[in-house]
Amino acid sequence: MASSATLSWAFVLSLFSFSGLSYGSSGWNDAHATFYGGSDASGTMGGACGYGDLYTSGYGTNTAALSTALFNGGLSCGACFAVKCSGNTRWCLPGTVEVTATNFCPPNWAEASDNGGWCNPPRKHFDMAQPAFEQIAKYRGGIVPVKYRRVPCQKKGGVRFTINGNPNFNLVLLTNVGGAGDVVAVSIKGSRTGWIPMTRNWGQNWQCGTVLTGQALSFAVTLDNGSVLTTYNVANADWRFGQTFEGDQFNT
Ligand SMILES: *[C@@H]1O[C@H](CO)[C@@H](O)[C@H](O)[C@H]1NC(C)=O
Repeated sequence: MASSATLSWAFVLSLFSFSGLSYGSSGWNDAHATFYGGSDASGTMGGACGYGDLYTSGYGTNTAALSTALFNGGLSCGACFAVKCSGNTRWCLPGTVEVTATNFCPPNWAEASDNGGWCNPPRKHFDMAQPAFEQIAKYRGGIVPVKYRRVPCQKKGGVRFTINGNPNFNLVLLTNVGGAGDVVAVSIKGSRTGWIPMTRNWGQNWQCGTVLTGQALSFAVTLDNGSVLTTYNVANADWRFGQTFEGDQFNT
């Protein structure tokens, strides 16, 4: 038993390192980067991770939309990457920027993958908020080759839980997640229930159908590197739909 479990984990880990997404791997991987929005990072609102307004949800402008090859069907939402320009002396600036994955850069099948369809599979691509891009490359570069690697997410304050939905459908958005950053499992507990596993609805929105109104809520959050954070009584019993609560934070 033990050896087959070890084997399958080795297989899963090798898949992750093959995709260049593995957390804690020290090597740099190759990709390309472009930018979107304006110099004020307008156009950074909303997105496929469900974070909504990136200012109020705490992500600011160091954010990027990831191509299919990096987005991992939404599992990469919240992961943090160090990105630096490489091999283009005309447009590259020295230095590294750290961005959080907050959106999906969809394929554009109308464009060739080497001429506008930068996010088409199998290309690894970061479409960065303009202020983030301009920390590593000149605006006029447009598209530049980059090197990237996963890094721990440095966040101020605790993990935030925004509770949406209705009494029969709880939809909880997780933001400001530190540590490895990308959430793979969430459990919720009412003061009169045991732990209830939630399922991913979309992006970093997690759902469950248990009626939890009138109960204090606790959360257990698991990241893709195995770290678990349990915060009891994140919300008091008088919580309301639409409110955001702050729990503890992962260590980095
Ligand atoms: C996950 O990553 C964080 C951030 O580097 C680290 O502090 C933590 O120890 C890691 N957890 C595990 C279980 O490896």
